[in-house]
Amino acid sequence: MSARLAVIGLGRIGRLHARNLATCVPAAILAGVADAEEAVAREVGELHGVSWTRSVDDLLADPDIEGVVVATPSALHPELVQRAAAAGRHVFCEKPLGLDPGACAEAVTAAERAGVALQVGFQRRFDPEWQALRAAVDDGALGTLNVLRCSHRNPVPPPGPGLGDIFVDMGVHDFDAVRWLAGEVTEVYAAEAARGDAAVVTLRCGRGAIAVVELSRSAGYGFDAAAELVGTAATIRSACGDRRPGTVLLRDGSATTPVARDHAERHAAAYVRELEHFASVATGGADPAVTGSDAIAALRIASTAARSRATGAPVAVEEHAGHPA
Ligand SMILES: NC(=O)c1ccc[n+]([C@@H]2O[C@H](COP(=O)([O-])OP(=O)(O)OC[C@H]3O[C@@H](n4cnc5c(N)ncnc54)[C@H](O)[C@@H]3O)[C@@H](O)[C@H]2O)c1
Repeated sequence: MSARLAVIGLGRIGRLHARNLATCVPAAILAGVADAEEAVAREVGELHGVSWTRSVDDLLADPDIEGVVVATPSALHPELVQRAAAAGRHVFCEKPLGLDPGACAEAVTAAERAGVALQVGFQRRFDPEWQALRAAVDDGALGTLNVLRCSHRNPVPPPGPGLGDIFVDMGVHDFDAVRWLAGEVTEVYAAEAARGDAAVVTLRCGRGAIAVVELSRSAGYGFDAAAELVGTAATIRSACGDRRPGTVLLRDGSATTPVARDHAERHAAAYVRELEHFASVATGGADPAVTGSDAIAALRIASTAARSRATGAPVAVEEHAGHPA
């Protein structure tokens, strides 16, 4: 049985999710779309031949919709999760779950009380390369993991307001990856480039490893999200995380290779796979692989990084970061 899912917020990522649900997630049916801008809602609704509205309440009142994908600006996520939960709809919420850990905890509690599932959009967990890194940790191939290095570069800053600072908007992907690969984070030390569009964050992990996360919002050349895990027995590096499938051009003593233009290109498969998973969640076939608790933990690390940047000193992450209040 296919899950009937709708998308709220039809900007860069919401359009992509709507298209994926309509065209390449067999376990799901795109059952409606909503956007605050009427012209946008109409355009995407007509494109896919589904009902459209600018009213989230109307969309949530549709009894045929079992779950929603929330892809509005981040500041609105907690309230929309709560409204969807109150209407009894399962929720896939884009990252970050919100900009404030307290509001996010309330949203998680609301979903739990309503008995609806909440999945969060950390798509790396559905990406084959990142899954290979995790498998190398799990099967012991690396020995003791000592160092984790992540680089995360966007070509240009995000267009819209309401997305949060570099740690909340970009870093949460890496902070989630660090937790997933190296365990809970206990201490954070962050520094920012003078222009504010790049940062380096050092994280101490409870299992003993240290991680370095490098973030750039204006790297120009393309989208790049790569990692390297250094263990006592072996090191694993994501070999082509920044590249499109294609050829390498060897000429004049150098080699050139294509890079992904943006996150949509690099993570195309992972975006489909996370919605396949959500379709299974919405029909009761699986529990969310990425939870509200994971989202809050990543957000706490992001707010700790902002405090460290402001104070210029390492800051301890609050205890029980992985558990909503
Ligand atoms: N997982 C990823 O790789 C990834 C990539 C891009 C964006 N995101 C996240 O997705 C979210 C959206 O980002 P974006 O870049 O698509 O933003 P965007 O600004 O391009 O689009 C947001 C859309 O939401 C609509 N909107 C605003 N308020 C609304 C409301 N109350 N009800 C319904 N619609 C409303 C706007 O009209 C707009 O069309 C953000 O939280 C962002 O962090 C995640």
